[in-house]
Amino acid sequence: MVPRIGRCSAAWRGRACGRVMVPALSRQCLPAARPRWASSEAPEPSQHPRMAELLDVWNRYRGADLFSETPSDVCVGFIGKRRNVGKQLSFADLTTPSGEVIQICSNAESDVAAHEKFRQVPAFAPVGVHVHLEPPTPTKHAQDAQDPGSSKQTVYLRDIRLLNSVPRELIVTPDVQFPQTKRHLQIRFHPELQARLRFRSWLKGVLSQGLLEKGFTDIETPTLFKSTSEGAREFLVPTRQRGTAYALSQSPQQYKQVLMASGIARYMQWARCYRDEDLRADRQPEFSQLDMEWAFAGAAKVKQDVNDIILKAMSALLPSQTYKDVRGERIPIVADIPSDSATDAEDAHEFTTITFANSIAAYGIDKPDLRIPNRIHAMGDIEPIRNFVGMITHLPDPLVEAFTFPLKDCSPAEARKFVIKFMDSLPSSLSENPDGKPQVLIHDSSQPLSGFSSLGFEYRNILDLVSGGKEMTDGDVVVFQAREKPTGQYCLGSTKLGELRNALWKTLVEEGYMEKPRLGELGSLQFVWVTEFPMFKPVEEGEPGQGGAAGISACHHPFTAPLSNKDVELLFTDPLQAKSAAYDLVLNGIEIGGGSERNHIAEMQEFIMRDVLKMTEQRIQDFSHLFEALRSGCPPHAGFALGFDRLVALMTDTPTVRDVMAFPKTMKGEDPFVQSPSKLSNEQLAPYGLQLRSKGKLA
Ligand code: AMO
Repeated sequence: MVPRIGRCSAAWRGRACGRVMVPALSRQCLPAARPRWASSEAPEPSQHPRMAELLDVWNRYRGADLFSETPSDVCVGFIGKRRNVGKQLSFADLTTPSGEVIQICSNAESDVAAHEKFRQVPAFAPVGVHVHLEPPTPTKHAQDAQDPGSSKQTVYLRDIRLLNSVPRELIVTPDVQFPQTKRHLQIRFHPELQARLRFRSWLKGVLSQGLLEKGFTDIETPTLFKSTSEGAREFLVPTRQRGTAYALSQSPQQYKQVLMASGIARYMQWARCYRDEDLRADRQPEFSQLDMEWAFAGAAKVKQDVNDIILKAMSALLPSQTYKDVRGERIPIVADIPSDSATDAEDAHEFTTITFANSIAAYGIDKPDLRIPNRIHAMGDIEPIRNFVGMITHLPDPLVEAFTFPLKDCSPAEARKFVIKFMDSLPSSLSENPDGKPQVLIHDSSQPLSGFSSLGFEYRNILDLVSGGKEMTDGDVVVFQAREKPTGQYCLGSTKLGELRNALWKTLVEEGYMEKPRLGELGSLQFVWVTEFPMFKPVEEGEPGQGGAAGISACHHPFTAPLSNKDVELLFTDPLQAKSAAYDLVLNGIEIGGGSERNHIAEMQEFIMRDVLKMTEQRIQDFSHLFEALRSGCPPHAGFALGFDRLVALMTDTPTVRDVMAFPKTMKGEDPFVQSPSKLSNEQLAPYGLQLRSKGKLA
């Protein structure tokens, strides 16, 4: 197809086409004899039978002439579905590279041939369009015949050029979900996915800028690292030196500590991390951290700087117009983010701090979601409700805890119905809790003792305690749960009641009985620092931990320092009771970052590995580079890593990090688009000294 010649009118030269066009470069008007769209160097077809064909398609679609100097009256982009208004008049949207959508109007009256071409262009194709910016005479009709319902800027077709073919079978509807093997189409046709990727890019820039302004140095560390027992299961990369392998870095933890010994006072890096873990909505085997480390600093400085850079981004987003509904999801639109954000908006966000022990007591979890109202209360003295307690647990001396939720516009009968359905759908880990089933009571003033007769005549005191003195109304629920009275420090991440509270709130919100602030509104993003974590926990099945013989592993990682002198003493007597100087940053109940003050003294690091964790000499030797760095006068230091995928997911209204990654892996760790991981043959393995063995022969 040789494109039609469009004679360039001097009137268009050098004019900007609204916000759509690339500002005009000084462009020479093409002579009328030369096709506007033709390549200047069309080669002679050669003897090879396929060459002529290939050159034809190459010249037809190349478009190089379009991009070398895009004139002001040429628009490029993806064309949408054509809307015909009779035979003479057609419209189609063009999505330009900037993301802006303009409307192209084609009218046979002004140019029959161009109109014919326009009507043959398949929807969703990449095109170059030569346009009039105003309706050309005699296109009077077009001026009047604005596509009904369209408020977009309209330009008028002069000529159009297809820049590639598109599959005939491509069907795009607003609800279409492309299979995972067509990720490129999902990205192209799902505006929410593109909006999230754009926001991700914006946020990355703002956070980087915040750190650079604070004097951080961006340093890249190797991702081809070595296998060490830092905590997570690693991916190994065999080398051609027989029997050796790299391990992909699970985090730049060790290198960044070495940088502290290297005299780098403030380190930052956008780090790709690799962990061979069981996948969940908020976990990917390959993910991104904003990794940081501070020399001559402790937890307070870390928290302050992290708060500052996050608040800087938040303050730019605060004007609610930044958040838009993109097909039902609340996403900040980068183009709408003001460049001069008001700094006092930072005051609107607050970072709360809570200790691990208080978080478990008040919320039953070490990742509290502060959007959920009302805390958990412990029934200190259970004597007055001994009968009730006997009904909910067989434990002789239990700790009984409870919380209450107010339900919106819900009668006791409706609440009862909801509770029965909710309890039936609970996972067995919660419904068949060996400590006893959770007990849900509903406030119902038409019943004896307002529906709390199982609590006996003490019920009012109990309700006062559970509701924190707040008045309860009909339909409100109170949930009780017993557990073993802890004898020492609690080491798990949650209690059953904490898990139940989260699940109940989520379902109540889904069913409209409780409210959740919409993203963009104040209170919709609740940050909380959780501090004073236990230093160790019993080794869990399937977790690699540090592989020590003590049966315990580091809660954060083995480089974390004890919190105080008392905790150092506990390392000798009862390490499971020791607290560490670790801290997590939690947003809306999800851990978005973690860090700690480090063991910068080699003796302490060695003691923890050898005497507390009881790691083998060989495992400890794997860290010899770190000991070497610590012994070389390493200053006290502390650090933090922000889980960037999780942060972006939470700020763009999606529960899964897959929605904020261009090419995520499935729950099986596969990328169906490129079909990885792929099977290896013995020929491919041979250079690494490896060989496939049949299943039966595996140890
Ligand atoms: P940590 O292991 O806590 O700390 O990781 C930091 C943050 O990274 C995020 N994250 C993940 N995101 C997506 N997929 C995953 N599989 C995944 N695993 C973790 C979480 C987490 O809070 N080196 C230390 C940091 C330090 O001590 O400075 C570290 O990696 O949001």
